[in-house]
Amino acid sequence: MHWMLDTAIATTAAPVADHAAGNSLVTIAYLVAGVLFILSLAGLSKQETASRGTWYGILGMALALVAAILGPDVTLYGWLAIAIIPAALIGGALAIRVQMTEMPQLVALLHSFVGAAAVLVGFASFLDPHPGMSMAEAIVHEIEVYIGVCVGAITLTGSIIAGLKLHGKISGKPLMLPARHLLNLVAAIVTVLLGVWFVDAAVDVAADAIVIDTLGVTLLIAATVLTGLLGAHMVMAIGGADMPVVVSMLNSYSGWAAAAAGFMLGNDLLIITGALVGSSGAILSLIMCRGMNRSLVSVILGGFGAAEGTKAAPGEGPQGEVIEINAEDTVDYMRAAKSVVIVPGYGMAVAQAQHALADLTKKLRADGVVVRFAIHPVAGRLPGHMNVLLAEAGIPYDIVLEMDEINNDLPDTDVVLVIGANDIVNPGAENDPSSPIAGMPVLQVWKSKMVVVMKRGMATGYAGVENPLFFNDNTRMLFGDAKKSVDEMLAAAPG
Ligand code: TAP
Repeated sequence: MHWMLDTAIATTAAPVADHAAGNSLVTIAYLVAGVLFILSLAGLSKQETASRGTWYGILGMALALVAAILGPDVTLYGWLAIAIIPAALIGGALAIRVQMTEMPQLVALLHSFVGAAAVLVGFASFLDPHPGMSMAEAIVHEIEVYIGVCVGAITLTGSIIAGLKLHGKISGKPLMLPARHLLNLVAAIVTVLLGVWFVDAAVDVAADAIVIDTLGVTLLIAATVLTGLLGAHMVMAIGGADMPVVVSMLNSYSGWAAAAAGFMLGNDLLIITGALVGSSGAILSLIMCRGMNRSLVSVILGGFGAAEGTKAAPGEGPQGEVIEINAEDTVDYMRAAKSVVIVPGYGMAVAQAQHALADLTKKLRADGVVVRFAIHPVAGRLPGHMNVLLAEAGIPYDIVLEMDEINNDLPDTDVVLVIGANDIVNPGAENDPSSPIAGMPVLQVWKSKMVVVMKRGMATGYAGVENPLFFNDNTRMLFGDAKKSVDEMLAAAPG
């Protein structure tokens, strides 16, 4: 949700020069843009208003960009055009081409740009001489630079690793180095010590602004490398099931990195926007932690869940026979049911089955069946992923319910259709303390009278955990691509 603001923060950071507050028109434009961003976040918090929220964000960012470009601080329009035009073309082409299932990777990539922008702004701001600064101002400025560069470097490398994991380019399995907590602690302590040394050295040199502070630059490079390694290592240690929280935490970091860049550039709007992204990302992380029944600290310490798409070795994991069903029988059961709950997951997004599912829902409702959708907080690969797809297919908001709203109704439900979901309906999370996802709240679909699971084969989900649900007596497996199976159901349910 905040990716749009993040993208723009990265682009806004470049053109903004020293002090934006000089021109009152620019200040007013920034104020209006700030209000539009707040309205945008408020709009994005509900499905019904999400589209309006997006437009507020677009409008706010357009206004901010125009104000920054036409403001008194920007004079080198040629350089600005060289930076902005190719970037806008690349960004536009990427956004048009990206599949909905690839959005998390794109978001991670955009977060990494914000991190990179904060690092570059930090170095530029440090190398830019500041004659006439008082000692106190110089200290504050160097602290801003140091924090901005460190937060930026963590965001940059953490987001790159998260993007590669989400893209499947590197394993989603947590990297559990021996003494990894000690390594992180040592890196954090050394970063603080380097910071003290850096501020001390830089402030001495600031008194004589002509001299290039080679020690300061060396210390800043060392801190960038160290915090970059720390960011990469922290995300490498995080397992599949915790990736949603990590993506939203990196979103929050990118906001703080942008706010730090705003302080360095003396740009109020960048500070406000960064703080909005930083705090809303932090709130989202906490909400997601609550949804996953995890503490933020345990997420950061890592190691939850295994690798994606793995199959248990023979003799491992739950065993037994699965009972298959075909599309025709599934639709017969659904039409004969009083109540049906549909649980969409990542596989629905892969298959792009949401439109066919919307048609099926219409048919079932026309037959008098009560159809509702159950959304798990981490279903899919992006916060709100399923909500976006269902809204895009025109499924009414009032039949789309959150996990907590529907779990108690599942024992009275005749048929649950699980479409491309796996981890979020795994009973092992509740009743197998040895399960890698033990303690994660899940949709208790096994309590319903009948469950039909639609997937292509017996592969595990993102967390790499076997699912005993598939072997239950009241579970039927409908194998095949989800879109193809829903099309078959539609064909079998004329009228
Ligand atoms: P998963 O547990 O990943 O399961 C998806 C299932 O869909 C797979 O088992 C796969 O089985 C099936 N599938 C894939 N393509 C399909 C297709 N074309 N047709 C039919 N089925 C298909 O998904 P979930 O239940 O939505 O859970 C989400 C998981 O992702 C959680 O572990 C969560 O922590 C993690 N995660 C979430 C996020 C956010 S923010 N939502 C971000 C990163 C990670 P087959 O291959 O056998 O078909």
